[in-house]
Amino acid sequence: MANTPDSLDLYAKVEDLLGVKESAPRLYAHYLLFLQAIDFDTLLDVGCGSGDFLQQMQKALSVPTVKGIDLSPLMVAKTLDKGIDATCMNLCEAQEQYDVITAVFDMLNYLDKEALMHFLVCVKTHLNEGGYFLCDINTLYGFENVAVGSFIAEDKTRFLAVDSDFEEGKYISEFTLFEKENQCFVKSQETIGQYYHSIDEIVKLSNLELLVDDEVNLYDFDMPDKVFLVFKKV
Ligand SMILES: C[S@@+](CC[C@H](N)C(=O)[O-])C[C@H]1O[C@@H](n2cnc3c(N)ncnc32)[C@H](O)[C@@H]1O
Repeated sequence: MANTPDSLDLYAKVEDLLGVKESAPRLYAHYLLFLQAIDFDTLLDVGCGSGDFLQQMQKALSVPTVKGIDLSPLMVAKTLDKGIDATCMNLCEAQEQYDVITAVFDMLNYLDKEALMHFLVCVKTHLNEGGYFLCDINTLYGFENVAVGSFIAEDKTRFLAVDSDFEEGKYISEFTLFEKENQCFVKSQETIGQYYHSIDEIVKLSNLELLVDDEVNLYDFDMPDKVFLVFKKV
């Protein structure tokens, strides 16, 4: 089951209720530390979401050219609102090559095995020689422990329920949203799938050289819930 623009748009509507924005800076710090240490002119962020990552990197590093792409039209609109170049498209359709490509905060986990294979081929195609691919993936521990079960959140205009389960490498989240419109609540429901991938799979499929694999403990559990990876096109 592939994620659709509609399901990704529903996620875009409720991301601020999920608490991920609060944890993101700790993850972004891994990216910033690496990017500070290299010379580059162009950066493409795939799955740019609402553009927070690009905004923070731009502030810290003043990269000459940054661009975001995402399959959610709503996310792209949020990035554009921040004054950052963004387009709703698949990486494989991109016309340019870049010094750095990033896929931040679980983006790779949104791809099933087949989509991951195509995606990583396109990462290599769209990197300049000597370019870097930076990403993070959820560990098995992260999938099994951090986000399974039910979650409810609300504010003045929205009520959200998320039910998540992880089985046989697949993490399925059912999102149910009630949005206030005039005096009524409008219900929408979508499913988002995430998929466990090992570092070895990504190394094999990417045909890139693995430079960094750092454990990340974003939620202060007993074991790392994510891994930060850096690859080089050699
Ligand atoms: C968890 S969010 C992370 C957003 C952002 N990178 C951040 O750090 O906040 C994952 C994002 O990946 C996007 N996405 C999922 N599959 C994608 C694909 N195949 N190509 C581009 N974007 C995708 C989703 O729409 C969503 O915005």
